[in-house]
Amino acid sequence: MKERSILVFLNAISRSIGDASTFKDYSLKDADPEMHALIEKEKQRQSRCLELIASENFTSRAVMEAVGSCLTNKYSEGLPGKRYYGGNEYIDQIETLCQRRALKAFGLDEEKWGVNVQPLSGSPANFEVYTALLQPHDRIMGLDLPHGGHLSHGFMTPKRRVSGTSIYFESMPYRLDESTGFVDYDMLEKTAVLFRPKLIIAGASAYPRDFDYPRMRKIADAVGAFLMMDMAHINPFEFCDVVTTTTHKSLRGPRGGMIFYRKDPVLGINLEGAINNAVFPGLQGGPHNHTIGGLAVCLDHAQSPEFKAYQSQVVSNCKALARRLTELGYKLVSGGSDNHLVLVDLRPLEIDGARVEKILDLASITLNKNSVPGERRYLYFPLLTNVSLLALVPGGIRIGTPAMTTRGFKEEDFVTVAECIHSGVQLTLEAKSSAPGPKLKDFMDYVEAPDFPLRGSLSALKSSVEALTSHFPIPGV
Ligand SMILES: *Cc1c(COP(=O)(O)O)cnc(C)c1O
Ligand SMILES: *[C@@H]1O[C@H](CO)[C@@H](O)[C@H](O)[C@H]1NC(C)=O
Ligand SMILES: *[C@@H]1O[C@H](CO)[C@@H](O)[C@H](O)[C@H]1NC(C)=O
Repeated sequence: MKERSILVFLNAISRSIGDASTFKDYSLKDADPEMHALIEKEKQRQSRCLELIASENFTSRAVMEAVGSCLTNKYSEGLPGKRYYGGNEYIDQIETLCQRRALKAFGLDEEKWGVNVQPLSGSPANFEVYTALLQPHDRIMGLDLPHGGHLSHGFMTPKRRVSGTSIYFESMPYRLDESTGFVDYDMLEKTAVLFRPKLIIAGASAYPRDFDYPRMRKIADAVGAFLMMDMAHINPFEFCDVVTTTTHKSLRGPRGGMIFYRKDPVLGINLEGAINNAVFPGLQGGPHNHTIGGLAVCLDHAQSPEFKAYQSQVVSNCKALARRLTELGYKLVSGGSDNHLVLVDLRPLEIDGARVEKILDLASITLNKNSVPGERRYLYFPLLTNVSLLALVPGGIRIGTPAMTTRGFKEEDFVTVAECIHSGVQLTLEAKSSAPGPKLKDFMDYVEAPDFPLRGSLSALKSSVEALTSHFPIPGV
């Protein structure tokens, strides 16, 4: 296959006026038809499917142009005005513009806050903060992953230190109160007093509620810890020392990360110097300037009234979705949502997230299975080689509204989404009861088989989903 495409490529070149150097000017379509065709297929898939993965979004054509620009050619280790290579006069302006826009987009005073826009993504940004503020084996506390926290906040199992964070630092999770689905701050406080962490991390990947920042600030102060927020949504700056964020989720920008830090020393540490040094030369080399260029474009957009309207629409849509699911009899973790996602506990229906995810996927609805608090079996973790102690069948699903809101969905569309998901759950229940065996694998093989008896109903659901999405184009298509 590879050889064939090289041949096609060489033929294309020889067909040009015999000048091999013109290959640089071939479009992707001509230079690499195989890759071009795959990208086109992915574009069609994105356009067709109902995208409900809470951490995904659709960036704009303008951001894609910046990311695909000549900025990808440039090496620029260091910071603006202090680079290791020449030729950075425009790159410096790009990065400075990006920093200024980042502070402005979050309403921050340049005297009090600074920002590093070079982190390559969210997880590296977090590790850079740990490198800056902690010594190896210092103690940290983050929300446990099975209760909605992020891997990079220190996840480990009884047998294995899974995240690099838990390999290099000592991690003690805090958790949700399983009876309410809200963070158990009393337990966090008690544990923090005993454990004396150096850093407490707020923020989550699958928690449908806001954090209580004043309470967390108090706990951090009581034990002499830094408070960092790994920001999903709301504005935590007032209470935090450091705030990290991805740039491709809430900001709808290129894939990347940012670290905001207070300029005044905290607990005797100059955060600015420590964090900039941890990014480079600590953990990274040359920044991705094309990403920084794209980020600057999206941060400019983030200050527009249109973007603010989008954000409140994301939350209203999520409330509409939560309301309709509740009417349909579903149990939501914490009973609702304050942000862009809901977590549905499917255990009362005696069905699980893995089966529902599979059926919905076959109907062009993309979302993910998720563990829910109180689950006896551990969490779903598909990439671990040692799965013996991990459940393959988590009890819930996570549904996010951001991506489809970007495509123009309103509350009534999310009522339809809830109903489509409900139809999918009904089909899953039927398929589970008629599957030839009790195992997940039996179910998966059964629903994939050409003679799956519910195929007609599934196709009908898929057609109605695609009829809905076809009215809402994706950016750049
Ligand atoms: C997505 C996410 C991350 C990680 O970001 P990557 O860019 O995937 O590395 C970290 N923390 C939270 C809360 C996230 O949601
Ligand atoms: C990126 O930008 C920096 C300055 O911001 C510059 O020095 C560097 O050459 C650029 N290169 C890349 C690859 O990002
Ligand atoms: C996607 O973008 C919208 C607004 O542009 C934002 O409100 C939403 O939070 C973003 N999605 C995620 C997952 O952060």
